[in-house]
Amino acid sequence: MPKITFIKVDGERVETDAKVGNTVMEVAKELDLPMLAACGGALACATCQVVVDEEWYEKTGEVSEDEEDLLDTAHDLTPTSRLCCQIPITDDLDGLVVSLTPMG
Ligand code: FES
Repeated sequence: MPKITFIKVDGERVETDAKVGNTVMEVAKELDLPMLAACGGALACATCQVVVDEEWYEKTGEVSEDEEDLLDTAHDLTPTSRLCCQIPITDDLDGLVVSLTPMG
């Protein structure tokens, strides 16, 4: 199983084994990490924003136009921000590091 590391807003690192086929958002919710993900992955809220570690950004795949539009409405946007309900876990993402963003 690919390993994923979440970095919380306070700097705490949470490492986990992630199931291929789940999204990064689903993994975060299973771990009860502080993330709203209000729309449950329907690409309608932008509250699942994470900042992807720079060296992993390309591997997280294409950003759709709809995701880009929603990201434009998100707070604290960075060049490597993604909506993590749009990042499916694959074996290629073994080692992925993402930082959570403040809720609300
Ligand atoms: S959970 Fe709403 S856009 Fe990702």
